[in-house]
Amino acid sequence: MMKTELPIACVICLAACLAPAAVNYTPEDAWKDAQIELRSEKSTTAQRRMDWWRDARFGMFIHWNPSSVAVSEISWSKQFYDDTGELMLDNPRPDDGVSGLKEHTNWISWFKPPVPNEVYDNLYKSFYPGMFDADQIAAQARSSGMKYIVMVAKHHDGFCMWNSQYTDFDMESTPFKRDLVGEMAKAARKAGLKFGIYYSQRDWHHPDYRVKPLTKYNEYMRNQIKELLTEYGDISLIFFDAGAWKDWKTWESDELFKIIYKLQPNIVINNRCGVPGDYSTPEQKIGIFNTQRDWESCMTFTGFWSWHGFQTPVKPYEECLKYLVSCAGGDGNLLMNVGPLPTGQIDPRENDRMQRIGKWLEKNGQAIYGTRGGPYKPTKWGVSTHKDIYVYLLVWDLQAMKSPLPAIDKTITAAEILGGDAVAFEQSEQGISLSVDPAQAAPDVTVIRMTLEGSADSIEPISMD
Ligand code: GLC
Repeated sequence: MMKTELPIACVICLAACLAPAAVNYTPEDAWKDAQIELRSEKSTTAQRRMDWWRDARFGMFIHWNPSSVAVSEISWSKQFYDDTGELMLDNPRPDDGVSGLKEHTNWISWFKPPVPNEVYDNLYKSFYPGMFDADQIAAQARSSGMKYIVMVAKHHDGFCMWNSQYTDFDMESTPFKRDLVGEMAKAARKAGLKFGIYYSQRDWHHPDYRVKPLTKYNEYMRNQIKELLTEYGDISLIFFDAGAWKDWKTWESDELFKIIYKLQPNIVINNRCGVPGDYSTPEQKIGIFNTQRDWESCMTFTGFWSWHGFQTPVKPYEECLKYLVSCAGGDGNLLMNVGPLPTGQIDPRENDRMQRIGKWLEKNGQAIYGTRGGPYKPTKWGVSTHKDIYVYLLVWDLQAMKSPLPAIDKTITAAEILGGDAVAFEQSEQGISLSVDPAQAAPDVTVIRMTLEGSADSIEPISMD
């Protein structure tokens, strides 16, 4: 198995070495690109840097830290009153930007169960994830068809999942002592996956975060980012998280980004550091069809980011698969979140959904990876993607599928169910009629592939409703 994989790994590695970072492209140029919203207005180097990410389509988000010991929401469950927890809805955040309770519909439930301040900030002393096996998590990601992992290195509560020389509030102070970011980075790379880190600028533990302007705190943040980008080899991505409403000057992002690009010229960065960065990050909702601006929806298996116990239901497989298909159809990525247990393992129910998606992808992956969304815009019964001479219809409700489909100005030469029989079709100026045998429909998402006479790239997006 390993032997056959070696040449592929070499090719990927070679491609990565040959790719981005044009000779005269400086960190200043990269910072300029980061301030531009539309993909087509960015430099070609900035566009190329995103190639692997756009092709990958599916990644794993990991929200995990000592909060799992209390089976409570990461950071948000920290109760700032030293009381019984009954004042939870008055719980004032030390960051005045988030006092409105509108961030998400389920946001209020993130406070429950509330964990008193002095308990929350000491959970790390009992954090001993004895079953943690980074290779196993990477293998689970890989077999579920995910192509990259984004791990929470530091969440709003300020705890560091690595051994940082700039704070004691980190893994080294736990009885476990091991560097979880380091182990995960290594395992991801070994499994052929890209590795990225989530880093929250909000920090409800560091004393300097209370002092505005954040001059001193920003220095701490820059030091930590430097540490993360030098100690662990290639870091492919940074997912900042401070809320898009903050001005980049708050975080001195100009200085920060230039350091980042200097250390990791090929890195891609999300839009939560006061500038558009490389991509947008709709959260707990599927992004809207958009071919001009890259986007990635981050979704959860439970409605929560971190682990909330076995009594909390996990969404059904069909719904999770639909997230992936809907993102691809809207021309975006899906970052599916797991909240590992305090033991370090992924909840077996979440892994079950992942592996079933992986099975579906084994058969239908060509309709997802490396494709672009459209030409048919997402609709009630399904979505479409395209690549080269193929248009894929990804249909979860065959009965509701509109017939005929709106016309396209390319001749169709064949239609078939992926991994199944040919589909009879008629093409005219009025549209395309497909006769799909209901017996061939998949129980989850059926993929119909139409082969065109030329590339599908030139077909303009078509509205369906
Ligand atoms: C939000 C939340 C946070 C979560 C993140 C994921 O900003 O504050 O808990 O990590 O979204 O996108």
